[in-house]
Amino acid sequence: MEQYVIKGGQRLEGEVVINGAKNAALGIIAAALMTDEQVIIENIPDVLDINVLLDALAEIGAVIERKDRHTVKIVGRVNTTKVDNESMRKMRGSYYLIGALLGKCRDAQVPLPGGCNIGSRPIEQHIKGFKALGADVDISFGMVNAKAESLKGGHIFFDIVSVGATINVMLAAALAEGQTIIENCAKEPHIVDVANFLNSMGANIKGAGTDVIRIKGVQKLHGSTYSIIPDQIEAGTFMLAAAATGGNVCIKNVIPKHLEAITAKLVEIGVEVTEEDDSVRVDASNTGRLGNTQIKTLVYPGFPTDMQPQMTTSLATCEGTSIITESIFENRFKYVDELTKMGANIKVEGNTAIINGVEKLTGATVCAPDLRAGAALVIAGLVAEGFTVVEHVEYIERGYEGFEKKLRAIGASIDKFDESDNKGIQKFKLKVG
Ligand code: EPZ
Repeated sequence: MEQYVIKGGQRLEGEVVINGAKNAALGIIAAALMTDEQVIIENIPDVLDINVLLDALAEIGAVIERKDRHTVKIVGRVNTTKVDNESMRKMRGSYYLIGALLGKCRDAQVPLPGGCNIGSRPIEQHIKGFKALGADVDISFGMVNAKAESLKGGHIFFDIVSVGATINVMLAAALAEGQTIIENCAKEPHIVDVANFLNSMGANIKGAGTDVIRIKGVQKLHGSTYSIIPDQIEAGTFMLAAAATGGNVCIKNVIPKHLEAITAKLVEIGVEVTEEDDSVRVDASNTGRLGNTQIKTLVYPGFPTDMQPQMTTSLATCEGTSIITESIFENRFKYVDELTKMGANIKVEGNTAIINGVEKLTGATVCAPDLRAGAALVIAGLVAEGFTVVEHVEYIERGYEGFEKKLRAIGASIDKFDESDNKGIQKFKLKVG
């Protein structure tokens, strides 16, 4: 197992370039399967979840060619609709293969999705959507089996706002006969990105980014070249790392509009944030101790649940009492016990965390329980006095490309080691200590 070793106390300074959005890429890669023609996807992040999904595509017959680290060519000729890849069971994005294969082949057998352990994560809204298009769907032996003689446009009103269900039903409906109307849709930027990609392949999708998406099914999709939007959550994570360390960092290759909920909270606690066309500068170097705030995670354009652990962590050393309410996932405060080991004073009651700001955190050995909480623990390590070890970095690598390298380039004392590499760890500690 690999771990990060961090010596805290350095202000982050300089520039960091953000990669393409992981959660958009998952939908777009699945969508690429829906044409037999060549698709070129640019700005793909080189992270574990994406690489696992590309391997799964290759296993069912697609031709995958990495043109460079961030560009992939996909020819989605599939020779089976059964995805039986063990890794797929561990990731969330595998569920997009149901919508994509059902749309293209009228048949999909895909392992029930896993993913970060942050709540119960049912998929009944996805299934409701597929059924409304005329598919039979059942779950047996850990597989979701979806089949349709013919897929016909339908009218779907989601009971809850779901990112995954919105994208998944949009995928299947793109190749259904007739018009589909999906109401109460999620509006996250990656939904718009997947819709734009499908439209670039000849789909007819209108309204993505609003509550109602209208899709006129087409018979066939064609090849396309498409560049994925920047990752809003990676950008937000670096914004908070900069703020928490009292740093001054320019975060490049972002869409500032997508970051507004995060920017607004940073400004509220006293950070200076300057937006340019495709970058944001976060400057907390002259602001003294930051203030407190109250936040509720919401669907876009509200404050993203995927930024909740990083925000809670950043507020742990701010002045006064902050309150964070998690309204999307019921089990997303598991990392708080780890923060407590580092001296944080946070009390979790139900879906609310009450954060009493402490003067400082102190280094400890902590365990990343999932992707975003793992990133949050790294932020804690950057702020803490002394050395912090963050175990299970494989969670973090599911969604952050070269996380420790990017942090090091802006002044963090951080490196990655195998847990058995005592020599390397000692050497690092002597060097930075
Ligand atoms: C996506 O998960 C993201 N994952 C998550 O990112 C993100 O946290 C989440 O959206 C919310 O923004 C991917 O894009 C792969 P949802 P998803 O369906 O699609 C409930 C990260 O760190 N729900 O919008 O699974 C669900 O339990 C990850 O990158 C149902 O009840 O999220 C949750 O409470 C973690 N039934 C809420 O809706 C359903 O059928 C929102 O879930 C579907 C969802």
